[in-house]
Amino acid sequence: MFAITGITGKVGGEVARNLLEGGRPVRGVVRYLCKGEAWAQLGCDLVAADINDAGALTSAFNGAEGVFVLVPPNFDPSPDFQQARATAGTLRSALTAARPGRVVYLSTIGAQATQSNLLTQHTIIEQALGELSMPITFLRPGWFMENCSWDVASATNDGVISSFLQPLDKSVPMVAIADIGRVAAELLQETWRGRRVVELEGPRRVTPGDVATTFAELLGHPVRMEPVPRESWESLFKSQGMKNPTPRIRMLDGFNAGWIEFESTESGSRKGRVALKAVLRTLIESR
Ligand SMILES: NC(=O)c1ccc[n+]([C@@H]2O[C@H](COP(=O)([O-])OP(=O)(O)OC[C@H]3O[C@@H](n4cnc5c(N)ncnc54)[C@H](OP(=O)(O)O)[C@@H]3O)[C@@H](O)[C@H]2O)c1
Repeated sequence: MFAITGITGKVGGEVARNLLEGGRPVRGVVRYLCKGEAWAQLGCDLVAADINDAGALTSAFNGAEGVFVLVPPNFDPSPDFQQARATAGTLRSALTAARPGRVVYLSTIGAQATQSNLLTQHTIIEQALGELSMPITFLRPGWFMENCSWDVASATNDGVISSFLQPLDKSVPMVAIADIGRVAAELLQETWRGRRVVELEGPRRVTPGDVATTFAELLGHPVRMEPVPRESWESLFKSQGMKNPTPRIRMLDGFNAGWIEFESTESGSRKGRVALKAVLRTLIESR
């Protein structure tokens, strides 16, 4: 049996779908049992556990051949990343107590970066879980292609997209969630020893300019990408309600300057199958 956290979200859902399609038993770890109803109907066992509840997570992970661990996104962490530290300790306790056969943790590109930024949350959790004695894989995907869902309305209605990724002709390691879910499900069924890192991006790197061109092709009208001036980011993010925009700004700086990159660089990353165009088509159709 494979225990899947975040099953009601995008990546966890893809991991579970892939396992179920392969005939593998899945235990959905949900915050609220009512939200897992669709998964129960697909044959999943359901267990309620908050990511910050070590006791409930221990029960959820007990007896699992493999556990997929996904920590919910936090775009506005406190300056000392206290929440990630607490989650790291909780996960370490629960996994130590439950002792599943193996663990796949959804991390991120750039988790090895030494400069503090939004992704430091994953650095902290990788360090804590890397000390476990069970086999653990840190799956580090690139920038999700599905982040472009934020751009569908402006591309469709105004023919303009704002880009924090700059310059517009700089290629970015992006990956489709379908590829992440498929690879995570494969990794959960592999056998390995100790700690390993798997870095994953799409079939080819794309630039912000490519995103605009692809939207234009699919929408049938011109779409241009406009860089958001770096000096406006702090006030913009604060106006959107963020208390501490620095980690997010530093993450964007890291992508733009290139210090957020795969540890094994482009040559060492695993390549997915799903192209940007297929993802954007789905995002437009599901709008
Ligand atoms: N976006 C990117 O470009 C990118 C790149 C690399 C890595 N990542 C990482 O990918 C992860 C996000 O994956 P996603 O897009 O699949 O997220 P998502 O769709 O937002 O799903 C989040 C999941 O976490 C669950 N959740 C929320 N709060 C919880 C809690 N307190 N306890 C237990 N479960 C909780 C949600 O359950 P409910 O349905 O109950 O809310 C949902 O199932 C983050 O760790 C992020 O850092 C993102």
